[in-house]
Amino acid sequence: NSMLSWQRTAFHFQPEKNWMNDPNGPLFYKGWYHFFYQYNPKGAVWGNIVWGHAVSRDLIHWLHLPLAMVADQWYDINGVWTGSATILPNDQIVMLYTGSTNESVQVQCLAYPADHKDPLLTKWVKYSGNPVLVPPPGTGVKDFRDPTTAWYTTDGKWRITIGSKVNKTGISLVYDTKDFITYEQLDGVLHAVPGTGMWECIDFYPVSKTSDKGLDTSQNGADVKHVMKASLDDDRNDYYALGSYNEKTGKWVPDNQKIDVGIGIRYDYGKFYASKTFYDQNKQRRVLWGWIGESDSENADVKKGWASLQGIPRTVLFDQKTGSNLLQWPVEEIEKLRLNKKNFDKVQVKAGSVVPLDVGTATQLDIVVEFELDQKVVESAAESNEEFSCQTSGGAAKRGALGPFGLLVLADDSLSERTPVYFYVVKGSGGTVNTYFCADQTRSSVATDVVKQVSGSYVPVLKGETLSLRILVDHSIIESFAQGGRTTITTRVYPTQAIYGAARLFLFNNATDTSFTASLQIWQMNSAFIRPFSPDAASH
Ligand code: FRU
Repeated sequence: NSMLSWQRTAFHFQPEKNWMNDPNGPLFYKGWYHFFYQYNPKGAVWGNIVWGHAVSRDLIHWLHLPLAMVADQWYDINGVWTGSATILPNDQIVMLYTGSTNESVQVQCLAYPADHKDPLLTKWVKYSGNPVLVPPPGTGVKDFRDPTTAWYTTDGKWRITIGSKVNKTGISLVYDTKDFITYEQLDGVLHAVPGTGMWECIDFYPVSKTSDKGLDTSQNGADVKHVMKASLDDDRNDYYALGSYNEKTGKWVPDNQKIDVGIGIRYDYGKFYASKTFYDQNKQRRVLWGWIGESDSENADVKKGWASLQGIPRTVLFDQKTGSNLLQWPVEEIEKLRLNKKNFDKVQVKAGSVVPLDVGTATQLDIVVEFELDQKVVESAAESNEEFSCQTSGGAAKRGALGPFGLLVLADDSLSERTPVYFYVVKGSGGTVNTYFCADQTRSSVATDVVKQVSGSYVPVLKGETLSLRILVDHSIIESFAQGGRTTITTRVYPTQAIYGAARLFLFNNATDTSFTASLQIWQMNSAFIRPFSPDAASH
């Protein structure tokens, strides 16, 4: 359907057609990044799930390969569901995934590459003794899925965790194994949080407190914190918490009970779900993949013949400055797509004004911005007891003394369509300044069958820091990172006017009091030309 083809992206991963959901088993092997994903070969809605497969040299330029695994066994005939890879010290690859059986029971299955000498890992073999794990007594047969990457314990065993629930409590079950064939369930759980419901796609990994390098999943020690992430089936968001992991007791304890898994911090305050990290031994970093669903109707998806994107892979680091959150940032390879650059130095934006930024067509951009507020105005601003929330405080139309201000993305000249990505600063009692970071979909499209909400959250800003923003724009997705990636918002938008050559970019300041200057670097972005694998394509 050519009418909707502009919604396809230029540099975000997506299959050529049909439905995609969770990222599966990401890994680096013999010079190639491998990406597997939940895929419906038969249509643009969820169902008939198998494993799609693609490879890349750089996490950006992907080549589609044949399906890695299809639903062809009694134990996965209802779906080859989400799983994770573990690379053993001898470079052997082990894939654990959830099968939905002929009776829709969720079981864990083992698969491995047919030929470890093939860098493309084209063929996969399912272990003949599958399934290797069935729901333990007391666990709902449909509440047992998405095994993690394994980590190596001091007992000389591999350990995995699998999401489940007991009544409304989300839990993570733990198993030890020596050979990935037989497993021993540990007593108790790795962690549990009442009221959070079924935990899907648990991720569990170490981050360094002192270094900017990522850590292999098996690392631990005094310098390490452990991140636990769960995807909450009930509210469709990914929540993480930082904490410490005692491998001996098998327990993980959050640093702060108030920001525990499922009730505290999200990876992303927009559309971002079922994410998974992997340790990239090639560049010694931890990389996060997240499934970005659609915000239009299922009907529209069927018409356009596809649904879902993957976010640009993000490096994940512990934020050494705040000590209380992660930093997420697009992998550096995305910068290879940057084409012509425009600089805007200290653009003045007065209260109540909109300033166009001449960057030509604004459908594929990488934007880096720094804002400087009028400090005199901030200092003299009256203290307010305003309870601000991106979701409920009236979006970018609501005016305060010190916000909102930011960018209008995927806008047309008449501003009939625009997506504000912005800061809102509130001076509270005692002079504390709180900063919020939001994205407002409410005027993103004149279409009526799309979600139109305001998303966002608080963003930590330390003394002396200026406000900064990075935004990746790609036709129907806007990925926004505030303060170096402390808070992120991914937004899907479906403009009908602000498309092709009509898409524009503006600065806006809807604050009543403060003016600001913005310094920007803006690049047009090349396409990543994601396409089927051919020997010719691979040699470039
Ligand atoms: C998360 C999820 C997983 C499951 C898979 C099925 O989106 O529901 O829990 O394994 O998708 O496609």
